[in-house]
Amino acid sequence: MSDLCKFGTHRVIYPLGTLPQSAEKIDNQMVCYDNEILCEVETLNIDSASFTQIREACEDDYEKIEEMILDIVHTKGKLQNPITRSGGMFLGKIKAIGKNIKTEAKVGDHIASLVSLSLTPLVIDKIKRIDLDKDQIDIKGEAILFETGIFSKIPDDIPANIVLSALDVCGAPAQVNLLVKENDDVLILGAAGKSGVLCAYQAKKNAGKNGHVIGVVYSEKEKEELEKLEVCNHIIVGDARRPMNIYDQVIEINGSQVDVTINVVNVENTEMTSILPTKNDGTVYFFSMATSFTKAALGAEGIASEAKMIIGNGYTKDHSEFTLNILRESKEMYRLFKERYGKEK
Ligand SMILES: NC(=O)c1ccc[n+]([C@@H]2O[C@H](COP(=O)([O-])OP(=O)(O)OC[C@H]3O[C@@H](n4cnc5c(N)ncnc54)[C@H](OP(=O)(O)O)[C@@H]3O)[C@@H](O)[C@H]2O)c1
Repeated sequence: MSDLCKFGTHRVIYPLGTLPQSAEKIDNQMVCYDNEILCEVETLNIDSASFTQIREACEDDYEKIEEMILDIVHTKGKLQNPITRSGGMFLGKIKAIGKNIKTEAKVGDHIASLVSLSLTPLVIDKIKRIDLDKDQIDIKGEAILFETGIFSKIPDDIPANIVLSALDVCGAPAQVNLLVKENDDVLILGAAGKSGVLCAYQAKKNAGKNGHVIGVVYSEKEKEELEKLEVCNHIIVGDARRPMNIYDQVIEINGSQVDVTINVVNVENTEMTSILPTKNDGTVYFFSMATSFTKAALGAEGIASEAKMIIGNGYTKDHSEFTLNILRESKEMYRLFKERYGKEK
């Protein structure tokens, strides 16, 4: 094929002129062009907002979930949820490396992709197993990584399914490290989730002993799990879709609004619960894929908030190693990940 593009536009079927993430349909022929890497895929880690939407639409019926996922991939050439527009990432092995690709990786290396399935050419031959608890699906299939499609080799010291879960959200704790300063008060919505616990850990570390980390969780069970990590000064059990209720509780606990709010929930309508409790000169980091730009922008205007709002870019330099190091550093965090995402199949 001529006109190979490092961003993968040579695979866009329509609309022409778009990049693979925003394209409606991409070419998923499993041919390894010179600037691509072909991978055998073992497991798909579906983005939490996407999987939550799929589970709700299919009422947790395995057959319906399977049918919906196969239909999306057949229609679009990639696993991009048509509602949330998000994807996830995959675990697999390198099968072929195009001759123009400069990499130290070799055929046979075990890797996790670090670019979204919402832009990754994918073929699913068979769905072997759907794991509702881990948001993971074991498949027989293949995928293509473009020249700019970063990936991480699975290290020897952490099991692959734990690595996959952690790397799915590795942009979040790495960004928290850049955003949270010593003595900051930090609010985390969805603090007991996968990215929530990693963000809370990093926030506590950066804010230090005079900073405060307040986590919002959805259930008492999650509160117990989060308490064991000792990364939050306060934990609110509440609904992140109820802005006034959470705002009132934050003010009561903290005495003022917070400096930084991290939104890592997987449901819609949490924009104002993030903005209201944040200081006028504070920062809101929207990592959730269920975030609405319109609701955040117009909602902030509506309450005259000048808080800086950041879109949760999944990429931050060295984010994968940064996040795996949290698992290496904290025995409690590793234990939690092992319990939740590392169980034998
Ligand atoms: N920006 C990016 O590049 C990127 C990359 C990956 C993921 N994401 C997004 O990041 C978000 C978090 O992902 P994750 O993998 O960490 O998800 P997760 O493990 O499912 O965590 C989400 C947490 O939010 C909680 N939650 C749900 N509804 C709530 C409510 N109404 N009030 C309070 N808490 C509520 C969930 O509780 P329950 O379990 O009890 O429902 C869960 O603990 C998702 O939106 C995901 O799509 C973004």
